[in-house]
Amino acid sequence: MWGGRFSGKPAELMQAINVSIGFDKRLAAQDLAGSRAHAAMLRTVGVISSEDEAAIQDGLSRIEAEIAAGTFPFRDEFEDIHMNVEARLRELIGPAAGRLHTARSRNDQVALDFRLWVRDACDRTVGQLQALQRALVAQAEAHADAVMPGFTHLQPAQPVTFGHHMMAYVEMFGRDAARFADARARMNESPLGAAALAGSPFPIDRHMTAKALGFDRPTANSLDSVADRDFALEALAAAAICGAHLSRLAEEIVIWMTPQFGFVKLSDAFTTGSSIMPQKKNPDAAELIRAKVGRLLGSFTQLTVVMKGLPLTYSKDMQEDKVPTFEAFDALELSLLAMAGMVADMRPNAEAMKAAAGAGFSTATDLADWLVRELGIPFRDAHHVTGAAVKRAEELGVDLPGLPLAELKALDNRITDAIFGVLTPQASAASRRSYGGAAPEQVRAQIARWKEILA
Ligand code: ARG
Repeated sequence: MWGGRFSGKPAELMQAINVSIGFDKRLAAQDLAGSRAHAAMLRTVGVISSEDEAAIQDGLSRIEAEIAAGTFPFRDEFEDIHMNVEARLRELIGPAAGRLHTARSRNDQVALDFRLWVRDACDRTVGQLQALQRALVAQAEAHADAVMPGFTHLQPAQPVTFGHHMMAYVEMFGRDAARFADARARMNESPLGAAALAGSPFPIDRHMTAKALGFDRPTANSLDSVADRDFALEALAAAAICGAHLSRLAEEIVIWMTPQFGFVKLSDAFTTGSSIMPQKKNPDAAELIRAKVGRLLGSFTQLTVVMKGLPLTYSKDMQEDKVPTFEAFDALELSLLAMAGMVADMRPNAEAMKAAAGAGFSTATDLADWLVRELGIPFRDAHHVTGAAVKRAEELGVDLPGLPLAELKALDNRITDAIFGVLTPQASAASRRSYGGAAPEQVRAQIARWKEILA
């Protein structure tokens, strides 16, 4: 491609470190779309003839067919996807192929292709997140009344419901989807036409190519257009945050699956056995999803370090943008699909959750709140009285509802047996009717809202 200036061949090692076709072949569809839009624009503004444009479009179609059929020759000697496509185009249509690169550089070409790829990846991810949310909403709806312990410090805190817990993740994944949508909206400007870095002396129409490729507008600064990779950084940051959310749900599934908790069961479809211990059913998918955040955050870190300190505009360092990005979205896609499958597969054990929900004096706050409400005791003092009640229950080896009324009266003799009405986990969860609280009617309202959003 640059034979004019060169008389020697690159060293084998030069080619080995320079070649990117092994991974940037994943940009083939985007590269062809960009070339089609560019060729059509060049013809419209009169830079190339209609005959040349027709030949180019025809050649690009044939290349597309070859790629689909798996017969396209991806060749290392042509370095990357852009030059592979152009070289093949020349073989197919002859000298007209040489006109396609007018008013274009690989710098704006790769910026465009990669941006189109990341934009598609964001769109796919939003769809996968919504599928996961639907699976969570379905579980929430089926178990809106199933009480379970709510935890802080992984210690029983206050009773909630399984539905409420599922809906917490629906919120998280909703914010993740919004982050991908935000990133998409910000990246949706076309760098095509920035050419090498300074723009073009040809009368190109950047608005036309931007529109043809589904962008809102062309980018406004040619230097920034070829130097910018923060669209990918932003998508990777969103992926890392999403990975962190996935790891929390994965961790909970691992914990819930232990015989000690026994809150949920997974079928054989989402568990594996042990080669030595016949009794085992391991939640490997959850464990692997829990681990993927390492890869996702690694990709974000990797690309940030690649971009850090690079002088404007393009440097070959930037070729290192693709592998971490492809890897991250591959990992994220697999994690989201597997998590959606696992969530749908999960069978909660309402009995085990209910038993656990009453353990650990989880309704102590309800007792204190009753003292405040019924006896007008300041909350701080009620907290103290309740602490003494918990201490006494522990000494007697009973739970709070099992504490004899006489014991409670010894702490404050105005207490009546009406207090027992608030001490069961069901009553506790049902009482939390504040907006967004654990009461089943509140949870159902959120389920209805999300079903509408996800419809
Ligand atoms: N393969 C290159 C990349 O991915 C394409 C751009 C090459 N540009 C250049 N000036 N050498 O970054």
